[in-house]
Amino acid sequence: MDVVVTGAAGFVGSCLSRRLLAEGHRVFGLDLLIDRYDPSHFERRLRDLRGHPGFRFVRGDLCDPEALRAVFALGAPKAVVHLAALASVRASLADPPAYGRVNMMGTMNVLEAARAHGVTHVVVASSGSVYGADTPVPFSESAAADRPLSPYGASKRAMELAAWSYAHSFGMDVTVLRLFNVYGPYGRPDMMPFQWSVAIDQGRSLTLYAGGRLKRDWTFVEDTVDGIVAALGKPGGYRLYNLGRGEPVENLRFVRTLERLLGKTAHAVEAPAPATEQTQTWADIGRARAELGFEPKVSVEEGLERFVAWLRDEGLVGV
Ligand SMILES: NC(=O)c1ccc[n+]([C@@H]2O[C@H](COP(=O)([O-])OP(=O)(O)OC[C@H]3O[C@@H](n4cnc5c(N)ncnc54)[C@H](O)[C@@H]3O)[C@@H](O)[C@H]2O)c1
Repeated sequence: MDVVVTGAAGFVGSCLSRRLLAEGHRVFGLDLLIDRYDPSHFERRLRDLRGHPGFRFVRGDLCDPEALRAVFALGAPKAVVHLAALASVRASLADPPAYGRVNMMGTMNVLEAARAHGVTHVVVASSGSVYGADTPVPFSESAAADRPLSPYGASKRAMELAAWSYAHSFGMDVTVLRLFNVYGPYGRPDMMPFQWSVAIDQGRSLTLYAGGRLKRDWTFVEDTVDGIVAALGKPGGYRLYNLGRGEPVENLRFVRTLERLLGKTAHAVEAPAPATEQTQTWADIGRARAELGFEPKVSVEEGLERFVAWLRDEGLVGV
C-alpha cells in the first residue's frame, strides 16, 4: 500500500516510515525540517530512508496546499499517517498562534488533501496533553478532555475535533491516536530523555520539577509504532485511542536509571512544576488493547538501555 507520512523526518515519523518500508509498503514523506533543533537530527533520521526504493520525500509545509498536493500525487496513497506538528508543551507558550496554525489548520489541510485525493483512511497523532488537571487517572478516551493545560494541548484537541468533523461530514475513516511520552532511538533533542542523558553525560545540571515526583507514561517508540501500524490496519469511521504504556513512572526513577546506564551522577536542580505540566500522565490503554491488539512490550529499564546504547553509537554521549 502507498502511505503518506507527514512528519517523516521527525522522531516518530522516521521510525514509522522505516517500519512501513520493511513491511513492503511505499512511503511518501512530507516534512518541513523545521529549524527548532540541529538539522543533523533530520539527516540522521532520513539517512536510511533516503536509500530505500520505496521512499519518496517532499520538503514542504503543511500550511501550503501545493506541498500537500505534491506529496499525494507521488502515487496512489490509500492512507495517511499525520504526524507533522509543532510539538512540546513548553515551547508552545512562546508562540501559541503558531501551534494553532500548524497543528490545527495544518491538520485541516491534510484532511482536505486526503479527501480531495480519495484517500479513505487518515490516522492522526494527538497527545496525552489534551487531558487536563481534573481528568481522573488513568486517562480514558471517554473523559471530557476540555481543559488542556497548554496551547499545545489545546491545538491537539482542536485538531481532534476537526478530524471528527471530517469523519462525520465526509464519511471518511479517521483514527485519532493520543500518544504518550514517546522516547527511544532517533528521539527529539528537546525532550527530557535526550536532555537529561546529555546533561548527565556532560556533568551539566538538569531541572527536575517537583522533586522528580511528576510521573510520565513513558512509552518506547517501537511500542508506539506497533500501535500506529495496528490502527492503520483497522479503519472504521471515527476511532480514538490512547497509545501509552499504561504505567506511569516517576521522573526521578527515570533519571536514576539513566545515571546507572551512563555511569555518572546527575546534578539535579529542583524547581516547582509550571502550571502547564501535568502532575502525571497515565493512559488507560484498555480500548487500544481490546480493539487494536495493542500490547506495549518494552519496560522503561529496557527502553532506556536501548536508548542510551543508541546515543553512544551516534556519538551523542560518551565522547
Ligand atoms: N514524542 C512524543 O512524546 C509525543 C507525545 C504526544 C504526541 N506526539 C505527537 O506525535 C507526532 C510526532 O511527534 P515527534 O515526537 O515525532 O515530533 P517531531 O518534532 O520529531 O516530528 C514532527 C515533525 O513535523 C515537522 N513539521 C513541523 N511543522 C511542520 C509543517 N508546518 N509542515 C511540515 N512539517 C512540519 C517537523 O519538521 C518534524 O520533523 C506529533 O504530532 C506530536 O505532537 C508526540
